[in-house]
Amino acid sequence: MKSPLRIGIAGLGTVGSGVVKLLAEHGRLLSLRGGRPLKLVAVSARSKAKKRDIDVSGVRWEKDPMGLAAASDIDVVVELIGGSGGVARRLVQTALRSGKHVVTANKALLAHHGPEIFEAARRNRVMLGFEAAVAGGIPLIRAVKDGLPANRMLSAFGIVNGTCNYILSKMADEGLDFSVVLKEAQAHGYAETDPTLDIEGMDSAHKLQILATIAFRTSVDLKDIHTEGITAITQQDVENAAELGYRIKLLAIAKAADGALEARVHPTMIPAGSPMAAVSGVFNAVFITGDNVGNLMFYGRGAGQLPTASAVWSDTLEIARRVAHGIPAMESDLPSLSEQPLPLRRMEDIRSSYYLRVMAMDRPGVLAQVAGILGQHDISLVSVLQKERAHGEAVPVVMMTHDARERDMRAALAAIDKLPVVAARTTMIRVEPA
Ligand SMILES: NC(=O)c1ccc[n+]([C@@H]2O[C@H](COP(=O)([O-])OP(=O)(O)OC[C@H]3O[C@@H](n4cnc5c(N)ncnc54)[C@H](OP(=O)(O)O)[C@@H]3O)[C@@H](O)[C@H]2O)c1
Repeated sequence: MKSPLRIGIAGLGTVGSGVVKLLAEHGRLLSLRGGRPLKLVAVSARSKAKKRDIDVSGVRWEKDPMGLAAASDIDVVVELIGGSGGVARRLVQTALRSGKHVVTANKALLAHHGPEIFEAARRNRVMLGFEAAVAGGIPLIRAVKDGLPANRMLSAFGIVNGTCNYILSKMADEGLDFSVVLKEAQAHGYAETDPTLDIEGMDSAHKLQILATIAFRTSVDLKDIHTEGITAITQQDVENAAELGYRIKLLAIAKAADGALEARVHPTMIPAGSPMAAVSGVFNAVFITGDNVGNLMFYGRGAGQLPTASAVWSDTLEIARRVAHGIPAMESDLPSLSEQPLPLRRMEDIRSSYYLRVMAMDRPGVLAQVAGILGQHDISLVSVLQKERAHGEAVPVVMMTHDARERDMRAALAAIDKLPVVAARTTMIRVEPA
């Protein structure tokens, strides 16, 4: 009989409780698949008194989660506290330095401090699993890390934040305003009480940082990822997009082209008939293109208790199997740099086509002024749409452009918004073929 893998869990919130539940309900099966018995030795959370829908009465309670890193009877520390620094960072670092394997779902921590954490795992020859950190239940990290080594990655992009996708889907399907849908999402538990990280795009940027680092084997600094959220998207833009044959999605995009890597998160108009446009509600989808494998699409639940717990167990059982068979941590487990890592392209240098909504006075000659400025900046128009007429008042004029350089677009918008006939800041949404 093999000795059990001894597990300590820090954090018993949504994900931590799910991990305990799966062990309680499917422990025998998980042990079988991990090749050895699994033993939950200790847990830790902020409040011992808190009512929880799991039974951890027979498990040691560590008042301080750092006790899990120090305990001599724990092989794997599962960090499910969250946060980019503080106790989660200290716990992960100390556990790795104490020679313990670590599993974490913490994308904020890895996006901010990935290099130091990977280095600690490497130096101490321990395993670090983070499947749950990107796209929740979708086994994306393992697919990219282990499934595609014979490929040079060309692109990896997708919808990686369920909260934003839920809000944008509801706005499109039910004609509701952003603020109304956000409140509803919070009431249903699809959005946090403080939704800032989600709706401002930071959560997507965290996941993109991790995904791009692994997929393109290059170091991507979080602060270099251009990040825009969905708070400025209006119902009017959602309707205009539909009329033009598009849907608006918050996309996390990484693509290699002309010797550089683009990494950006922003609302994006994609053709309504594309598979990515059909991904609605809280679902996530990531498209990956490798030079040999071609296009791959990953779709599923990117968050939620059991999908995320499923990913945590995937990592934990991999560690159980490896330890059971004496397979040590390997260099290839961790992100590594390619022989020629791609430099990051600056946002000003990307090319895209654009949707513009200009709030212009309904007067003769106004369109010509706006189009003239675009032309001066090397930007040509595909179409112009003006539905409303209100002589002497500002009305929305919607324009779709051909491919243009971001720097030129920004300069053109600065000039357009200074025109006396333009009443408000112009809305700009990038358009991708998806
Ligand atoms: N929720 C998801 O669907 C999801 C999906 C993918 C990844 N993740 C990631 O998984 C991690 C956990 O998320 P979650 O949604 O489960 O969070 P959560 O529900 O807020 O749970 C956090 C847990 O950490 C405990 N905790 C907080 N501060 C602590 C401290 N100083 N010391 C000890 N324990 C502390 C809390 O204790 P109390 O219970 O006593 O308050 C709680 O049990 C995060 O990194 C998150 O980004 C979550």
